[in-house]
Amino acid sequence: MIALKNVSMVFNPGTVNENRAINTINLRIREGDFITVIGSNGAGKSTLFNLIAGTIIPSQGSISLNDRDITREPEYKRAQYIGRIFQNPLLGTASNMSLEDNMMITHKKGFKWLKRSLNNRMRDYFRSELIQLKMGLEERMKENLAMFSGGQRQALTLLMMVLSKPDLILLDEHTAALDPKNAQIVLELTHKFIKEYKLTSMMITHNMSHAIEFGNRLLMMDKGEIIFDVEGEEKRALTVEKLVEKFHQIRHKSFENDRTLLSAE
Ligand SMILES: Nc1ncnc2c1ncn2[C@@H]1O[C@H](COP(=O)(O)OP(=O)(O)OP(=O)(O)O)[C@@H](O)[C@H]1O
Ligand SMILES: [Mg+2]
Repeated sequence: MIALKNVSMVFNPGTVNENRAINTINLRIREGDFITVIGSNGAGKSTLFNLIAGTIIPSQGSISLNDRDITREPEYKRAQYIGRIFQNPLLGTASNMSLEDNMMITHKKGFKWLKRSLNNRMRDYFRSELIQLKMGLEERMKENLAMFSGGQRQALTLLMMVLSKPDLILLDEHTAALDPKNAQIVLELTHKFIKEYKLTSMMITHNMSHAIEFGNRLLMMDKGEIIFDVEGEEKRALTVEKLVEKFHQIRHKSFENDRTLLSAE
């Protein structure tokens, strides 16, 4: 579906700060893939997402969607078919607007022909979708999102994105800013939605257990390269120890990342 061919990203080329953040990456994301992405700080994970989403244009190489070259397609156009969630729960939704208005806006984005204003039928539809979150938010549709917790907002961002039916969703440590309980809830919702709606998705996480537990495919990045791409039976057989060992085998150094090791448990 989405293919990256020999993609490199060099920041500040020709200066003392020149930095090859992505180094000749080749990647094919297939429809239905749920890919977890791990790697140390600065490995290039978010930069990879920025390239796929069109936030930045690669220094070299090309990106295509169903054989259509989208290398230079601007981010706002790709946003129509690529959904993205970041760490910060405040980024996904508008604080000074009610929950139902937030849902209405995303809804219109997903169904362009729908120009009607919020009516009771739509309210019922939003309510029935909100019930899935099991957070009681269906009773709070007129409240401004500023009143909601980080976990609630992240769950809402996720739900609204799913309802707009993107071709690909990019989750960049979307549970990292939440407390462990909320992180778990949002993670389980993520898993449920991806499965039920058969979404193609990529999820960056610093938690190696999560990377192993979720998804059908796992990418390990280091220094701007994908050093390990595993799926199916081989992925199912992975353990945190095996992953750390694998890194050592490939890179001849230990996998030193405090956050990752700490969250590996
Ligand atoms: N806009 C930018 N301008 C200059 N350098 C950048 C830019 N964005 C990223 N970089 C650099 O690219 C490298 C990769 O950064 P990136 O944010 O992709 O890492 P990451 O794997 O997401 O790390 P983390 O786990 O800390 O989020 C880093 O050296 C970073 O400083
Ligand atoms: Mg990052």
